Amino acid sequence: MLNIKELNKEEILSIIKKAIEIKQNKKHIINNKSIANIFIEPSTRTKISFEKAQRDLNMDVYNLEFESSALKKSEDLVDTIYTLKQYGINNFVIRSSQEGYWEQLKDIEDINIINAGDGTKNHPTQALLDAMTIYEQFNTLDNLKILISGDVKNSRVYHSFKDLIEKFDSKLFLSAPNEFQTNDLNYVDFNNSLSEMDVIMMLRIQHERHNFKFNINEYNNKYGINKNNIQKLKPNTILMHPGPVNRGVEIAKDISYKEPKNKILKQVENGFFIRKAILSNI
Ligand code: CP
Repeated sequence: MLNIKELNKEEILSIIKKAIEIKQNKKHIINNKSIANIFIEPSTRTKISFEKAQRDLNMDVYNLEFESSALKKSEDLVDTIYTLKQYGINNFVIRSSQEGYWEQLKDIEDINIINAGDGTKNHPTQALLDAMTIYEQFNTLDNLKILISGDVKNSRVYHSFKDLIEKFDSKLFLSAPNEFQTNDLNYVDFNNSLSEMDVIMMLRIQHERHNFKFNINEYNNKYGINKNNIQKLKPNTILMHPGPVNRGVEIAKDISYKEPKNKILKQVENGFFIRKAILSNI
């Protein structure tokens, strides 16, 4: 699975429903294949949930990280994959800052890649876990109003989620400072729109991808969630963030995980089940 565009609506719903079944302990699945996790960019949630899911499935798991591998000595990804294949490893979970890194791997036969995030454009398993979290709340991905706020331009979470939700009959709205806007037309004022939305999805400011300087309080007041504007949300509305959160920026420090609308830890939990559902099919 390289990007969300390769999945149709039925396939998306099928993965979500399988993940929900696994979550409800209705499916015991084993997959004894070998798999390597290659993380050339940092990760906590994606990496650990993939590895936990692999271990739960009884997979033969190998971890390769940039700092402790020959990648640091400038070995390229193509040579790395050919090398691991010689050890009988044909399945790979890969994260890289290089957009479309898989293009260079397409001539390598008999390999299966699950994209754990590339550049600013794709994070398909995150989009699926976000969709699962929304589906669990509303029992549908249709007829919803979803507002995404933050670093839209540099966010692979946004781009993959947009690819996913466009396949359904829901409306996507955006809020962002000019510097973080894309060419999309559906930008709205964050605070004035909150009361109409079913889902509020905050995006992390990707400090590592630009040098945009801003005032933290000003940003949170205009584009972030805090104790004042969370009161505007409808009773059933949910608050999401893919993580990691810049605390005090996208979400004020006093919005705790105990706040009932806050579904961030549910997203984290669902990441494990979505990844287990995907891994059980390879
Ligand atoms: N949401 C997400 O991809 O988090 P990690 O970078 O910790 O994997």
